[in-house]
Amino acid sequence: MRIIAVTNIKGGVGKTTTAVNLAYLCAAAGAATLLWDLDPQGAATYALQGDAQERASAKRLVAGKVELQELILASGYPRLDLLPADFSYRNFAVHLAARRHPTERLLKMIRPLSEIYDTLFLDCPAGVSLLSENVLRAADLIVVPLVPTPLSVRMLEQLQEFIAREGWTDLRLLPFFSLVDRRRSLHEQTIAAARARFPQLLTTEVPYWSEIERMSVRRAPLPASAPSSPAALLYARLWAEVSGEEPRARAHCSGGAAMGTVATLAAAAGSSSTA
Ligand SMILES: Nc1ncnc2c1ncn2[C@@H]1O[C@H](COP(=O)(O)OP(=O)(O)OP(=O)(O)O)[C@@H](O)[C@H]1O
Ligand SMILES: [Mg+2]
Repeated sequence: MRIIAVTNIKGGVGKTTTAVNLAYLCAAAGAATLLWDLDPQGAATYALQGDAQERASAKRLVAGKVELQELILASGYPRLDLLPADFSYRNFAVHLAARRHPTERLLKMIRPLSEIYDTLFLDCPAGVSLLSENVLRAADLIVVPLVPTPLSVRMLEQLQEFIAREGWTDLRLLPFFSLVDRRRSLHEQTIAAARARFPQLLTTEVPYWSEIERMSVRRAPLPASAPSSPAALLYARLWAEVSGEEPRARAHCSGGAAMGTVATLAAAAGSSSTA
């Protein structure tokens, strides 16, 4: 099972919009796909018209008293299932910290899903926490929507350094520019400078389009509600780039990430607020 996390320390950058559209396209291409909404706000659950699950407390999940398989819902789209968010996920990191091997817990919880699914998408909340460190350990590909500002690019640099320090040389970091407004000179300049420094930046850029914003009103993936729209075609391009990446070779993973290393990432990023 390939694990694709959509993450960024910053909020409101397009993580959920990306996760929902890419998960839909992945399923539409024939892969048994699960989208796990890890954000207590439940935006991905809302976008796919899912309901919260009563038994989905983060404490019980982390303690192994509830299995993820028990909480899975059909999305209504072929081959796409949803693990809905729960408000208790706001304390996910607290419960992870209370367990042994706290940075590997998510990977352990996810393992049984590999018998059912080809691809697992993780829609992550903004911020840096023990949960984000678990996500980085578990994922094969990290998709990072970046608003083109200098602070976002600095965050990318810090994330790259963090991954290198942990020795996760096989973890693929796939940043792309999101909420782009090419009329703004800051966006234009930031994109040009970042492309020169980060060759792994995907070529697809997602502009600020009201058609994309309206997805939250329609509560359906764009390629489902308007398959031939420019926005749907754009996400298809993004998916073609992401899906072409090789999965992580787990044998090369270094063990024993120290707890608390995410704190250095948080400090370096300077802020966890909206871009
Ligand atoms: N390309 C876009 N153009 C216009 N609006 C967008 C675009 N992408 C996302 N949005 C809108 O911006 C808001 C934030 O998007 P989204 O929820 O995907 O971001 P997020 O990073 O998941 O946010 P959070 O950190 O709160 O989880 C939403 O209202 C969404 O509809
Ligand atoms: Mg979100």
